[in-house]
Amino acid sequence: MTFVEQIDKQKLPRHVAIIMDGNGRWANKHGKNRVYGHKQGAKTVKEIVKISGEIGLEYLTLYAFSMENWNRPKMEVDALMALLVSSINSETKELVKNNVKLLSIGNHDILPKNVRKKLYDAIDATSKNTGLKLVLSLSYSAKWEILEAVKKISKQVIEGKLDIDEINENVFDENLSTKGIPHPELMIRTSGEYRISNFLLWQLAYAEFYFTPKLWPEFTKEDFLEAIIDFQRRERRFGKTSEQVKQKS
Ligand code: FPP
Repeated sequence: MTFVEQIDKQKLPRHVAIIMDGNGRWANKHGKNRVYGHKQGAKTVKEIVKISGEIGLEYLTLYAFSMENWNRPKMEVDALMALLVSSINSETKELVKNNVKLLSIGNHDILPKNVRKKLYDAIDATSKNTGLKLVLSLSYSAKWEILEAVKKISKQVIEGKLDIDEINENVFDENLSTKGIPHPELMIRTSGEYRISNFLLWQLAYAEFYFTPKLWPEFTKEDFLEAIIDFQRRERRFGKTSEQVKQKS
């Protein structure tokens, strides 16, 4: 049986989030520079987006650039921004054709103007699409996002639009940049690192984590499907006992 055939389409996670890690180490391993590793990483992005659409995944969130990544050498940051622009240029048509809707979360105010424009043009171009929702985390930090939500909620309280006692998980969700997006059910991190790295801290509260030693440029669609198959074998208890969960199904 192929990997695709092993997937239970009725039990797909609604939302998969990925920390794409290991581009630099992959490049090093192959005697190339880090930028070359990122370019290979962009090819993996293309393959994973394609298979996600094919199996009917609803949401795929990719950690493309963290707020902490601004601290990398300028040359690498510039190369990553250029790669983003060239990927958007070359892929927008394909996204439209494949019915993929592009979304993005993060602190876009600090993105270079040309990157922001490209990004928003692509978001506009795909806005009518109804298939896979591809969420790019760009200049993203979960702590930043949570603080922004706290500020927004505080403002509503000060302005008398919200009572303190009305603040609950739903209100908090509504004030995050992921408003309207279901929380990820599966989080994959490549490259053998076991960290969350300031990614979707609130939204991953009950996600299943899947770690693989594969470096991002060598991560294949089969690896991706294997992670989903592994997810489908797990029992998600949300704090309940195994017996309670089995009784329900
Ligand atoms: C982590 O590898 C990867 C990144 C910081 C950037 C991710 C970017 C891409 C996959 C390419 C472009 C993306 C899109 C959406 C077109 P690393 O550099 O931290 O690797 P290392 O830990 O081995 O040094």
